[in-house]
Amino acid sequence: MDKTSAFIKTAVNLMSRSKLSVLGSIMITVLTPVLLICVLLDIRGTVDNPYFGFLIYLILGPLFMLGLILLIIGVYSSRGKEDIGLFTFEYIEEQLTRPGRYTRIRRHILLSLIFTLTTLLLVVMVSYTGFHYTESTAFCGLSCHQVMEPAYATYQNSPHSRISCVECHIGKESQWLTKAKFSGAYQIFAVLFDTYPRPIPQPITSLRPARETCEECHRPEMFHGDKLYIKDRFLPDEDNTHVQTALLMKIGSGGYLGRKAQGIHWHVSEDHPVYYQHTDQTQEEVTQVWLQDGGREIRFHKKVAAGEPDPSSLPGTARKMDCMDCHNRPTHVFLSADEALDEKLLTGMIPREIPFIKRQALKIISQQYDSVDEALQEISRGLKEWYAANYPELAGQGRTVLDKAIAGAQQAYMENVFPAMNIDWDTYTDFIGHKNDSGCFRCHDGRHVTENGQTISNDCDLCHVILAENEPSPDVLGLLQKTLQHKGQP
Ligand code: HEC
Ligand code: HEC
Ligand code: HEC
Ligand code: HEC
Ligand code: HEC
Repeated sequence: MDKTSAFIKTAVNLMSRSKLSVLGSIMITVLTPVLLICVLLDIRGTVDNPYFGFLIYLILGPLFMLGLILLIIGVYSSRGKEDIGLFTFEYIEEQLTRPGRYTRIRRHILLSLIFTLTTLLLVVMVSYTGFHYTESTAFCGLSCHQVMEPAYATYQNSPHSRISCVECHIGKESQWLTKAKFSGAYQIFAVLFDTYPRPIPQPITSLRPARETCEECHRPEMFHGDKLYIKDRFLPDEDNTHVQTALLMKIGSGGYLGRKAQGIHWHVSEDHPVYYQHTDQTQEEVTQVWLQDGGREIRFHKKVAAGEPDPSSLPGTARKMDCMDCHNRPTHVFLSADEALDEKLLTGMIPREIPFIKRQALKIISQQYDSVDEALQEISRGLKEWYAANYPELAGQGRTVLDKAIAGAQQAYMENVFPAMNIDWDTYTDFIGHKNDSGCFRCHDGRHVTENGQTISNDCDLCHVILAENEPSPDVLGLLQKTLQHKGQP
């Protein structure tokens, strides 16, 4: 009893010398049990709230560290040479060599040992689990809410929504990991001081997924054959006519087990790497393309109109083509206003029986608004007004149908437009097709030519066979359906 009370007395004595260390020790005393319980709960996965990790690792953890720092500064800067002397070698040596002082120093050593060990344990636990927390989708998607909202929202609606952000953005190699943490630290700084760009420019320079990343899961050298793609569209007429485009996409392969590389994934083969030079930051302006095929190099230059400068003389950046030059939006897929509405009409979120709904909704969601709230109000107001004037029966009795359509149009807007980040329809280009002569047509435009006149083909059958284009119930799909039913499939 005597020993323990003397022990506590020393501790209290040491910590109460300055206001700083009092504050620090109060913080530590309160936070230690709270943190311990929270970390244990988090490790066991008991709490299923995405903000729980944020609370522990970005608020409680740093507060604990702050308490620790205050305590140390407080103790160091407190009155009395003896206390500062506590931490110098001469002092300890003197104490140890004077027999009378021996018990006191032993108490000091024991005290600081217990203190250091508990703190160390807590710090290690919090840093370790905290490190993993910074790799979680919750951290990436929710911490800097406004900045990451567009990326997170589009991710959730994508085929990759079950894999975490870091599986694409941070590779397994430690070099990438370090780079990611550094650029991550900078990004937190940019968010705190509001210096980040809006929108985040495409392509991203740090944290861009590498080819190896995708190949952790996908093996494009093994793809084979052609795949049927069906696109559903709705025309801006009174009936919102449903039309379909059917393409047989030549997915191909990068060559495997003696088979030759062919089709779209021909580009993936290491036997003939493709390089290109672009003169703008967005990689849209491709001035030169060359491929190394065995010992040969085949170079295509962009033809220019008379009077324009020779593109090969322009300064540019060279790049080896990889997955991201086509699949730059494998996850953050921003649809155009047209596509977004088609999707809602197809799934019935916007009822097709409302006359001209495609046309009217398109008109109103394509406008520019300053905030999401304003957009939602205007979409609702605009559609109600137009239908009240032109189809009063819908605005009156059929109100529930119209309300559903309004909700669908609002949803289409919210999933793709983010005014706070200056992201409008078509801010981000998808390179997978050839919308607006971009994507594949950056090279496959028939204007990239070798010295002896060979071009990078833009033959419509090079990449796909068009089986039907914007046709209401195309024959070919009817035929396929019949064949499938014949085989006993629905
Ligand atoms: C399937 C892989 C993949 C996953 C999973 C993924 N991303 Fe991305 N992300 C990409 C690619 C590819 C780009 C575009 C790279 C480029 O254009 O240079 C990108 C771009 C971004 C950008 C830049 C803005 C933009 O849209 O171009 C942000 C921000 C981002 N991702 C955040 C996230 C967050 C947050 C998550 C998790 C919620 C996530 N990403 C999950 C592949 C992925
Ligand atoms: C951790 C594993 C993983 C990684 C890494 C990954 N993917 Fe995927 N990807 C998947 C899975 C699983 C699916 C299938 C999802 C489904 O069908 O529901 C998929 C689907 C796809 C599809 C087909 C989408 C569709 O609409 O059918 C493409 C294209 C694709 N991934 C490209 C990429 C690219 C490009 C990268 C690299 C930036 C990448 N993936 C990284 C697991 C991964
Ligand atoms: C030259 C452009 C190009 C390159 C390079 C490319 N792809 Fe593709 N990929 C396509 C196109 C086009 C499709 C089919 C259309 C679509 O998915 O919208 C496709 C389809 C896919 C699919 C879906 C296949 C299926 O059967 O549904 C996956 C997965 C995929 N690619 C992964 C990759 C990976 C991984 C890489 C890099 C090693 C890569 N691709 C490189 C253009 C490319
Ligand atoms: C950076 C330039 C570039 C881009 C972008 C590009 N390609 Fe290519 N592609 C080439 C070159 C170069 C060739 C080889 C041309 C030749 O040999 O005549 C080629 C050849 C092809 C071939 C023929 C392969 C074979 O079997 O010989 C297909 C199919 C193809 N590309 C599809 C696509 C698709 C689909 C896209 C867009 C998703 C695309 N390419 C984007 C440069 C590009
Ligand atoms: C270099 C390869 C390539 C060439 C050449 C090419 N396409 Fe495509 N095209 C694609 C790819 C890839 C897609 C699929 C885009 C997607 O998945 O959304 C596509 C999609 C389409 C679509 C469907 C668009 C939609 O979303 O409804 C049409 C129509 C089309 N192409 C017509 C043509 C025509 C006409 C030509 C000849 C002038 C042509 N394409 C040449 C690669 C090519």
